[in-house]
Amino acid sequence: MRETMTMLDTLAAKIKSAHECAVAAANKSFRHAKEAGLGLLEAKSQLQHGEFLPFCRNLGIAPRTAQIYMTVAKSADRAPFKSIAQFLTEVKKAKRQAHRDARDTERAGTILHAAPHEQYRIHHADCREFDWPHDLDAIFTDPPWADLDAYRWLADFAADHLRDGGLLMVQVGNAEIGNVVPILTSKLNYVWTCAIMYYEGKPIMGRFLGLVRPVLMLSKGSWDRDGLACGTDAITVHDNSNVKNLHEWQQPVEPWLQWISAWTRPGALIADPFAGSGTMAEAVMMAGGNRRLLGTEIDADHSRVAQGRVIKAEEKKAA
Ligand SMILES: C[S@@+](CC[C@H](N)C(=O)[O-])C[C@H]1O[C@@H](n2cnc3c(N)ncnc32)[C@H](O)[C@@H]1O
Repeated sequence: MRETMTMLDTLAAKIKSAHECAVAAANKSFRHAKEAGLGLLEAKSQLQHGEFLPFCRNLGIAPRTAQIYMTVAKSADRAPFKSIAQFLTEVKKAKRQAHRDARDTERAGTILHAAPHEQYRIHHADCREFDWPHDLDAIFTDPPWADLDAYRWLADFAADHLRDGGLLMVQVGNAEIGNVVPILTSKLNYVWTCAIMYYEGKPIMGRFLGLVRPVLMLSKGSWDRDGLACGTDAITVHDNSNVKNLHEWQQPVEPWLQWISAWTRPGALIADPFAGSGTMAEAVMMAGGNRRLLGTEIDADHSRVAQGRVIKAEEKKAA
């Protein structure tokens, strides 16, 4: 008994010392992160536009890490951590804030390019009040998933404004799909379920490791698919690191680019009433073939981001 007590005492002393070292190291790590961040902020203020990322890479610091260091540097001074749990919470908060800071910077840079575009037009407008033409070849869109009224409006809109045989491709949340399908099929013909597949899953509602984002395909009357290519229904996104750099609900371009290229004809007029950061506009521009995009976005800043984005993407494509 006595021997066990001595053993436990020794173990307890070891654990206590290791714990104190871990907490001290966490505090030291945070101080170093802050120091690195202050240096990076200083360097950034001295470098020309476009020089900062190469500067970080030369130092062997990934842009995301640099952003976290700078976010830590900008945060208010805090009392030392008393536990590892406190440290981990602070790191998580800094990571989230760094992502928001990076997005704000990217949005501000994109807005600088904003201007109306003749072929890929995104209006700052409420889609329900916009004067839409009645000869749309297709609608490719992504409404706010939880807003069933938006899907009700979309069903009426597609039935009124698509030409006969026109196509609606619409993103739907997994949790809402059971409610959305009856809304859309009350006005349109169901064609197929497509999906964006993520290579790396992320936990959703603590219940699923989510890899699939459904996209429903419907048509006004029977789908006019004469001369259209055979398209792939599920498209995997291998690198989603850049996917939400402009909008909290931003979608990857690649799947939409493939679907637009396969399932619309050159010269097609395509609508996106819920344009967000302009993913569909970029996809239509990338698909080329003189296709046109007409979009609305209710938020003024998002609409300017979308306008700027399409102009930047077009310049990049031309370069
Ligand atoms: C899910 S997000 C679209 C994100 C987009 N797919 C992207 O990749 O950036 C839906 C967008 O619809 C916009 N929206 C919501 N109601 C709207 C309305 N009545 N008229 C126009 N836009 C609306 C929201 O502001 C939001 O930006």
